[in-house]
Amino acid sequence: MRVGSPQHRDLFCRTFIETHVAFEPEHLPWPELDEVNLRRLRAFPFWRYARSIEQRAGRMVTAFAHTVEDPVIRAAVALQGTEETRHGRLMEHAIERYGIDAPPLTIADAPVSPEEFAIFGFGECTDSFVGFGAIALAKQKKILPADLLDVFDGVMYEEARHIVFFINWWRYEEARAGRGSFGTHALKALGYHARAAMGTITGATDLPPMPALDDPELSEIVKGVTPVMFLQAALAENRRMLARLDPELIKPVIMPTIATALLIGIRMLPPRSALRQAQGDKGDKGDDGAAQRDGGDEARDAA
Ligand SMILES: [Fe+2]
Ligand SMILES: [Fe+2]
Repeated sequence: MRVGSPQHRDLFCRTFIETHVAFEPEHLPWPELDEVNLRRLRAFPFWRYARSIEQRAGRMVTAFAHTVEDPVIRAAVALQGTEETRHGRLMEHAIERYGIDAPPLTIADAPVSPEEFAIFGFGECTDSFVGFGAIALAKQKKILPADLLDVFDGVMYEEARHIVFFINWWRYEEARAGRGSFGTHALKALGYHARAAMGTITGATDLPPMPALDDPELSEIVKGVTPVMFLQAALAENRRMLARLDPELIKPVIMPTIATALLIGIRMLPPRSALRQAQGDKGDKGDDGAAQRDGGDEARDAA
């Protein structure tokens, strides 16, 4: 299959539409939570951001679908808009059901154009990778009950479908416009990732700062998570999620590549014992960099 061909378009649009699951958020198997788990769930500070960001994504993607000329692509983008809007309703339902204090936030709508959809899509690639790691670790560490995390697993699978649809749409449009080889695509994709991150940072200046995690027991568990644990969990979950989609489709590679490079870098750090030895050799003269390196070694030692 040639990227940019009608067969490519049909495959990425058809796969996306055929893997859509019809459901209403309030009918999902939400578990009853005991006091400990309710307290933990309510302590996470991201609820109001997650709901508002999903609602904005629903409006933006739905509006973009109306501008797409190709009817096959338009139907798939419109379906993604429906799913993002449903994510917003799902967050709202979880907030109400579990009595989470998360007043709505007002976030300005993103402009609508193929360029903005590309920035949004690469931003989703980053957010999904981080989400994969977070949910997988929450399961591993039993931070929240597995049946609750299974509900959010369904949301993350939809995000996996979104990013695979997006990356194929982007490469399809690039190929049709006669732009780029593999090297230039990778560089361009990195540029979009950076613009998406900048958008998140500058957009965040309009928003109140996210409060710290307000639960000492939960803070202790989260503090015990090293960068290596997080990167490994995110990479494994990313592999598992993307393997569920047609192997012929292009898969996002920037975030897994960065995560793998970070893991290799952390593993190349000298072991903590070697640093202590080096510090001992220098005598007790003090070293501002030691604490920073210890952090890296903890991460490495956990590998
Ligand atoms: Fe979403
Ligand atoms: Fe999405």
